[in-house]
Amino acid sequence: MAFDSFREFVSQLDRAGELVRVFQPVATELEITELADREMKKPGGGRALLIEAPTVNGQPSPLPVAINTFGSWKRMALAMGAPSVDAAAAELGALIKARPPTSMREAMKLLSTALELRHARPRQVRSGPCKEVVLKFEPPPARVEPWPPAPGIGAGVSAMPGACPTLAGLPILKCWPLDGGRFITLPCVVTKDPDTGERNVGMYRMQVYEDASTGMHWQLQKVGARHARRHRERGQRMPVAVFLGGDPMLAFAATAPLPDGLDEFLLAGYLRRQSVELVKGETVDLEVPANADVVIEGYVDPQEPLREEGPFGDHTGYYTLPEPYPVFHVTAVTRRRDAVYPATIVGIPPMEDFYMGGASVKLFLPVFKMSFPEIVDIALPAEGVFHNLVFVSIRKTYPMQAYKIMHGLWGMGQMMFTKYLVVVDEDVDVHNTRDVLFHLCANTDPQRDTLLSRGPADVLDHATSEIGVGGKLGLDATRKLPGEGFKRSWPPLIKMDPRVRERIDALFGGAG
Ligand SMILES: Cc1cc2nc3c(=O)[nH]c(=O)nc-3n(C[C@H](O)[C@H](O)[C@H](O)COP(=O)(O)O)c2cc1C
Repeated sequence: MAFDSFREFVSQLDRAGELVRVFQPVATELEITELADREMKKPGGGRALLIEAPTVNGQPSPLPVAINTFGSWKRMALAMGAPSVDAAAAELGALIKARPPTSMREAMKLLSTALELRHARPRQVRSGPCKEVVLKFEPPPARVEPWPPAPGIGAGVSAMPGACPTLAGLPILKCWPLDGGRFITLPCVVTKDPDTGERNVGMYRMQVYEDASTGMHWQLQKVGARHARRHRERGQRMPVAVFLGGDPMLAFAATAPLPDGLDEFLLAGYLRRQSVELVKGETVDLEVPANADVVIEGYVDPQEPLREEGPFGDHTGYYTLPEPYPVFHVTAVTRRRDAVYPATIVGIPPMEDFYMGGASVKLFLPVFKMSFPEIVDIALPAEGVFHNLVFVSIRKTYPMQAYKIMHGLWGMGQMMFTKYLVVVDEDVDVHNTRDVLFHLCANTDPQRDTLLSRGPADVLDHATSEIGVGGKLGLDATRKLPGEGFKRSWPPLIKMDPRVRERIDALFGGAG
C-alpha cells in the first residue's frame, strides 16, 4: 500500500491502535526523547507518538513531531503495507529465487530486475505537495566560496527578499543532555555520483550548526562519502537534497544496505507497490519525492574545511565524540502545508532502529542465501546495536563451513562492520538469544572454535583503538565434524520422547 504523505501513514497507525496522540506541549529539547524512550523500551516497542504541540525554545512549533513510527514489527509491516515483514521478505525472496544467479554481480543485477518487475521505477512529475511552501535563495554561484562565509545565513549566496530558507521553523530535536546541538535524525540524503550520474539516498544524521547550515554525517564507508570524495577530486561543489517524510518506505529504503548503484527509490517503489514520483529541486539538480513532507536543498563545498560534529547520543548506547565532517549549506526549504516532522532517537537498546535494521536483514536474507545457500537465518540481536553481534544459522555439510560463512559475511557490504559473529546449526533459533548462547557455550572449545581477524570497523565504535579499524571475532558453535580435529563422538541433545509429550499434553493440556 502506498501512502501519499507521512500524515496518512500516521493516521493508518492510529486506526491500527499503534499511535498515541500527545496534546500537551512537549519540548523538543530532551523532553520528546524521554517520552519516546519510555515507549521504545516497552515490550514489543510500545506505540508511535504524535506530538501535536512540540515546542522549540519554549515557542510552539508549526509542525507536529511523529516518533517511534517504525518501532515494532507490526508498524514496520504497516509501513510496508504487508501482512508482516516476513511476508514481504518471502515475496521478494520468491522473485529472486526464480532464476538462481551464478555470481555476486549477477545476484545484484537479478535483485535490480526483480525490483523493476513490479513497475517500480521512479518517474518524474512536474510538481508535488512537497512544494506547497517554498523558501529559497537564488541558486548559489558555481564557483567555490571562501570560508568562513559571511555572518548570517548561507555561504556567499544572496537571499531572496522576504524569504529565508531557515531550519528554525522545524521541530528538530536535541536528543540527549550532552549532545552538541539539535540533530535531524531521519533525513534521507540524495546525492549523485558526478562520474556516472547514479543517484544515492542514504540516511545520515545532520547536526544543526546555524539557521541554514548543518553537519553531514556520512561515514567514511558510505556511498554519500564516496560521492563527496569524487566531487572533491573534481574540484566541484556537491549538490545535496534532503527530504523527510512522504511514504514511510522512502526512509526505510534510505537506511537499507543496498549495493552502491542500486536505486533506493526503486526499492521504495517496489515495497509500496507504486512508483515513487520525483520532482526537481528548486535550487539543485537533484530529484526528491513529490510527496515528501519537508525538503531541504543545499550543497557541500568539498574545499571547505570540515567541522566538528557531535557529541551525539548514539545507537551504540554511548555518546560518539566530536569528529570532523562536511558542512551542508541550505539553499532552499520546501514543505507541505500540513507537514509532519518525522524523527527518531537512538540510544541504549532496544530502540526504534532495531526494527528498521531487522526488517532490512529479513528482506535481504534471500540475497545472502543466493551467495551462501547453506545460510538458514540471520539475526542482529538488539543488544548488539546492529553490527556488533550477528547470529547466523547454517545447514552444515562439510568441515570448516562455519569459517567460510565468517569470511564471506565479513566481506559483504555493511556486514563488514560485524564485530562478533556466531555461527550455529540450522536447528538453533537465531532470534532467540538464550537459545544461541546455550549452544555457543555448550558447543565450543574457545581455543579451537574461534577466529580472530581484523578489518574495517563502524566509525561509531568507541572501543576500537583507531577509528574505523578493528578486530573481529568469529565463533563456530556448530556441531563439530571429524575433519575439524574433533576425535570424539558428538552427544545427542536431550529431547523428550514425542509419545510421552503427547500423553502429558492429553492429560494436562498443551501448556507443559
Ligand atoms: C536512524 C538511523 C540513523 C543513521 N544515521 C547514520 C549516520 O548518521 N551516518 C551514517 O553513515 N549512517 C547512518 N545510518 C546508517 C545508514 O543509513 C545505512 O548504513 C545506509 O545503508 C547507508 O546508505 P548508503 O549505503 O547508501 O550510504 C543510520 C541509520 C539509521 C536507521
